[in-house]
Parts: sequence; structure tokens; C-alpha cells
Amino acid sequence: MELNVNGQPHTVAATPDTPLLWVLREQLELTGTKFGCGAALCGACTVHLDGEPVRSCSTPVSACKGRQVTTIEGLSAQGDHPLQQAWVAEDVPQCGYCQSGQLMSAAALLKRTPRPTDDDILNAMSGNICRCGTYERIRRAIHAAATMQAAV
Ligand code: FES
Ligand code: FES
Repeated sequence: MELNVNGQPHTVAATPDTPLLWVLREQLELTGTKFGCGAALCGACTVHLDGEPVRSCSTPVSACKGRQVTTIEGLSAQGDHPLQQAWVAEDVPQCGYCQSGQLMSAAALLKRTPRPTDDDILNAMSGNICRCGTYERIRRAIHAAATMQAAV
């Protein structure tokens, strides 16, 4: 089937119920998106489907036909999305495993709510688990990115 990922068309060989995550990682070698629980519970596999955050471990690839998939590799051209800059400035990651999913959820939040409150952040990010407990730094980085975006 045809799949549009990060603005590029791809032809992939997969049964319709294959999770999008497997296609991204194993066929397209986009390994920034991580496997955590495989059951839509941890958020490590979060990507965007037409700009909305989805759990790629539980999204069948057939659901992506004719739609735009964006992964962490496609979030910005140079790795310079305000969130990525803020993540570096706030030294957010610890082990890093959950962080691409965190960034994709945060990016979707900032798109629909450019100046989120702490409650907005809590609600939008509550499905993204971080075993290293980086939640406070994530919250600060999202606020910093929102400020950065507002200044542009
Ligand atoms: S791996 Fe998809 S939500 Fe955990
Ligand atoms: S940084 Fe280690 S799981 Fe989040």
C-alpha cells in the first residue's frame, strides 16, 4: 500500500492490520519512534496522523491510507522545532526512551493550544509515561517552547 510519511510517498508491503509502528521501524527504518507497551498505554510510540497524536503500536497501517503520517524524524527540517530547542535548553531527557513520544504529544498540544496552562499540559501529556520521571522538566520545556513560538 501507499503511505505518506514525513511528506514522502512510500510503498510498503504489509497486511492491513499490521501496526503502523512496525512499518515505520522495520520497513522505513524510522527508529526514532519507540516500542514500549504495545497496548496504547505508554505513549512511547506516538506519531501524528493528519496532525493528531496517535499511538502507532495500535494504529493499523490501513488507517493511514491517504493521510499524512509524521514521526519525530519529520517534526522539523533541522531538529530545530521550538520544542526540540527547549528540550535541549531544559536538559529534559534522562534515558531518552520515552522522549520522541513526549515530543510528538507536546507538538500536537502546542498546535491546538499555543499558550497552554499547567492543566492543559497535564491533560495532554498524561498518556505519555516516563519511567525516569522527567515530567517537571517536560512541563518547563513546553512553557519555554510556547514562549519561543509566541516571540516569532
Ligand atoms: S508502545 Fe504504543 S502506547 Fe506503548
Ligand atoms: S527519559 Fe527515561 S523513560 Fe523517559
